[in-house]
Amino acid sequence: MVQLFSLIAAIAASVLPNTVAAVGLDEAALAKGLLYFGSATDNPELTDVPYLTQLSNIADFGQITPGNSQKWDTTEPTQGTFSFTKGDVIADLADANGQYLRCHTLLWHQQLPSWLTSGTWTNATLIAVLQNHITNVVTHYKGSCIHWDVVNEALNEDGTYRTNIFYETIGESYIPIAFAAAAAADPDVKLYYNDYNLEYGGNKAAGARAIVQLVMNAGIQIDGVGFQGHFEAGTVPGKSSLVSVLQSFTALGVEVAYTEVDVRIQLPTSATTLAQQSTDFQNLVQSCVETIGCVGFTIWDWTDKYSWVPSVFSGYGAALPWDENFVKKPAYDGLLKGMGVTSTTTATTSTSATTTSTTTTSTATAAHWSQCSGNGWTGSTVCASPWSCTYQNDWYSQCL
Ligand SMILES: *[C@@H]1O[C@H](CO)[C@@H](O)[C@H](O)[C@H]1NC(C)=O
Repeated sequence: MVQLFSLIAAIAASVLPNTVAAVGLDEAALAKGLLYFGSATDNPELTDVPYLTQLSNIADFGQITPGNSQKWDTTEPTQGTFSFTKGDVIADLADANGQYLRCHTLLWHQQLPSWLTSGTWTNATLIAVLQNHITNVVTHYKGSCIHWDVVNEALNEDGTYRTNIFYETIGESYIPIAFAAAAAADPDVKLYYNDYNLEYGGNKAAGARAIVQLVMNAGIQIDGVGFQGHFEAGTVPGKSSLVSVLQSFTALGVEVAYTEVDVRIQLPTSATTLAQQSTDFQNLVQSCVETIGCVGFTIWDWTDKYSWVPSVFSGYGAALPWDENFVKKPAYDGLLKGMGVTSTTTATTSTSATTTSTTTTSTATAAHWSQCSGNGWTGSTVCASPWSCTYQNDWYSQCL
């Protein structure tokens, strides 16, 4: 009995210094000076009550984005007839929860209504259609949105303009025309250009900077660039590369945000790929924290149950910080770590980590920074002096 109590006391003494009050993702983001940490959502999944409860947990989410219900095919399914019912459900939810709403998106080459894609347009008639659409949608949501993604995915991977109905008919000036229409309808909302694969720098990022300058040089408002952040685990650039790319945009006088982040994994997942995904999320959010002018971080839904990834990337999934049963994955702790919450260790989980290390038979020691414990770990659980095995999550402990 005495021995048992002293063991418990020793464990408690070793973990208590690491124990911090539970902090959510948005709370951590606000503490680091961001405006929000948020999630996309969509109308069909709102009938899932446990899902809705967590989406409305403002400790984690201070912002939401409608995944589909503000897109052109939903908001103007027939020319000149507008439908805001679905978008309003998400806007009202954000309002009721006290969450920011990122509005998404006014101009995109996908999810366009057939009257538009199959119509015959001249430069002048298409400009009128575009202006009428943007004026009506932005006016309807005036005062509700923190940002509007005005133009979405206008670029090819090599940085040239994507061929879409707007570019083919109007030319590149469709972009400043769209921003001007949005600014006229709501001068207070921040207007964004939004795209993917900008995070790697290179030609596509250069193309996006050229768009910022095109709009600015026309004397038209553009406030921000959205980095969508759709990745495969292990392909996320290092944190300092990410910071450099973000800064190449803020140097132009616009703010930046991560707007649609997910980090897909080839299925089935393993402890290794989940740990890699955690590191990737950590680097992404930390690059935002370290960039003055990076205002927020949005994941493209929060649970694997409603991720778009498996339907689009065959053989991939598990792209979000919560699994399909709403259980937090290592990525959740990676995000917290990237926002300066160095340990979410609780006495309970640390005790199990400590227990694991005391039952091992391995005699080799693990070096500074090495893994030393975690589900499925078969290597050494004893750290070289003076380092100690520090719990990060159920899959990963490290010699620190
Ligand atoms: C279409 O009209 C706009 C506005 O006048 C102009 O800036 C643009 O160059 C025109 N595009 C073409 C292809 O003529």
